[in-house]
Amino acid sequence: MLFIFLNRNIFRQIIDNPINSCTDIARFSGTVKNLCVFALSTPYNGSHNLNFCACVIGHNLIDNLVNSSAKSLERVEQITGKSLDFYQNDVRDRDAMERIFSKHDIDCVIHFAGLKAVGESVAMPLEYYDNNLYSTVVLCETMRDHGVKNIVFSSSATVYSGDNTMPLRENSHTGMCTNPYGWTKYMCEQILRDTGKAIPDWSIALLRYFNPIGAHSSGLIGEDPRGIPNNLMPYISQVAIGRRDHLNVFGDDYDTPDGTGVRDYIHVVDLARGHVAAIDYMQTHKGENVFNLGTGIGYSVLDMVHAFERVTGKKIPYEITARRPGDLATVYASPDKSAELLGWKAQYNLDDMCRDTWAWQTKNPMGYGE
Ligand code: WQD
Repeated sequence: MLFIFLNRNIFRQIIDNPINSCTDIARFSGTVKNLCVFALSTPYNGSHNLNFCACVIGHNLIDNLVNSSAKSLERVEQITGKSLDFYQNDVRDRDAMERIFSKHDIDCVIHFAGLKAVGESVAMPLEYYDNNLYSTVVLCETMRDHGVKNIVFSSSATVYSGDNTMPLRENSHTGMCTNPYGWTKYMCEQILRDTGKAIPDWSIALLRYFNPIGAHSSGLIGEDPRGIPNNLMPYISQVAIGRRDHLNVFGDDYDTPDGTGVRDYIHVVDLARGHVAAIDYMQTHKGENVFNLGTGIGYSVLDMVHAFERVTGKKIPYEITARRPGDLATVYASPDKSAELLGWKAQYNLDDMCRDTWAWQTKNPMGYGE
């Protein structure tokens, strides 16, 4: 989980200066301070959001490194030119959180739910409920005790029920999750929703990610799953670099154009931009606000294979295998509400996502190597 704490005094400065690239951000960052970044494990999304925000503010980080590499932090410092003070703690550690909230002038939290492998959550439900729920409770109690009133929560499309028609809108049915991971996201949303009712001057942004892929264009940070990748894009990328001999396509008998699963893939840098847009929105909107972070475009597994081959010139051998339990045929977002209220829209297309994934993988064939 990555928690990014921003000092209110610099919110407006961040948002008033259109941020289109890390270079723009780095120029801007001379006048901002007091980013406290807190992580239990600096996951893929976290390091990119950290990079995006650290370009602007960049200071402190807490991470227990349970599912991440300290190298990603070094790489963010390299990209942004900002130094990050590093705390190795766990957000469930109340004493550690008390020390950090007492030490820093914190105005906003960006809370990335930590453990996120769907299949792993089925095998280890208690670890997922403890890690993802208890950390949220400790964080909210510490925020309450220190008068911190803004939180952006990294939620997920997995909170939507399987009985919805596409595209998924923020008021589509939620619940009836097909795995413990999805239930933890659903329950964390409820924890925050109820907290917002009890403390009305909190601003709570629930950002429902669809399928984050891609990497920062520098190729210095990217997705480095431990062991066998659960998700499609890192698996394709590891086939391309020669770490896996072929891709298993989980079913080609779905009710989709080519029979393979359709998802809404979003560039991870677009995801980071969505967080900054949400922080701006929260300055003038109290209470709970839910936003989809997706492109509104669905691509099948074979679309992804063919796009990756086209962009990289690498052949991706694959075999059709049985469906993966819990998978849905088609999942994609309506991004209309985020466009209308946040003024946010995904800027990167599928070729950009494939290109940046490959730039990361070719520069880091074994990931961070840990
Ligand atoms: C995508 C498609 C698979 C692997 C993920 C995360 C979840 C959430 C949403 C953020 C499906 C197929 C996959 C493989 C395959 N993210 N596939 N072979 O399941 O949509 O969920 O994004 O909160 O945390 O798990 O993404 O990449 O696992 O699968 O055929 O080796 O690719 O069946 O159709 P998913 P995914």
